[in-house]
Amino acid sequence: LIFLFQSLTLGVFSLSTASNIASSSSSYSSNLGFVDFTFTREPRDTVTVRGGVLQLDCQAQADSVTRRPSITWRKDGVLLSTVVDERRQQLSNGTLMVRNVVHSRHHRPDEGEYQCLATLDGLGSIVSRTAKVTVKSVNIHFMTIQQFCLNSTNAVSS
Ligand SMILES: *[C@@H]1O[C@H](CO)[C@@H](O)[C@H](O)[C@H]1NC(C)=O
Ligand SMILES: *[C@@H]1O[C@H](CO)[C@@H](O)[C@H](O)[C@H]1NC(C)=O
Repeated sequence: LIFLFQSLTLGVFSLSTASNIASSSSSYSSNLGFVDFTFTREPRDTVTVRGGVLQLDCQAQADSVTRRPSITWRKDGVLLSTVVDERRQQLSNGTLMVRNVVHSRHHRPDEGEYQCLATLDGLGSIVSRTAKVTVKSVNIHFMTIQQFCLNSTNAVSS
């Protein structure tokens, strides 16, 4: 099912960009012969908290190509470099960092589905798995802990 969903996402993605994009791993026939272009690190499903830090890793490599692939990020299909947000930063190794994660009832800019794209000029692009990012409201944890303490107190006193 996950694979199906992934394929579906890729399909839509390829259609909308109409460029040379393959799945997580791919072999390209080029003037260097066959080149295996794969992700060595893909973003993982992540749960973070409001006010916290979100970190998503992405790294790709093509054998027999010494150039480092360039990494870009998409969230819910939108290229993040086109969205100005100073909380967001892409490190030189490709990792995406979001500081001070925002989460309110009506404003959840950081929650969603992230994908990274690795591109090697003259070869093509590959797109990673979809990483689902969930933001938990810290208040819920506090309430749970408080509840737990209250319950313990009740248990002890009764
Ligand atoms: C990139 O660097 C950051 C900070 O040093 C590190 O946490 C992260 O794991 C690195 N990413 C990869 C893909 O190695
Ligand atoms: C505390 O007690 C309430 C009501 O008895 C219960 O609904 C809740 O799940 C309990 N919480 C914990 C953390 O045990």
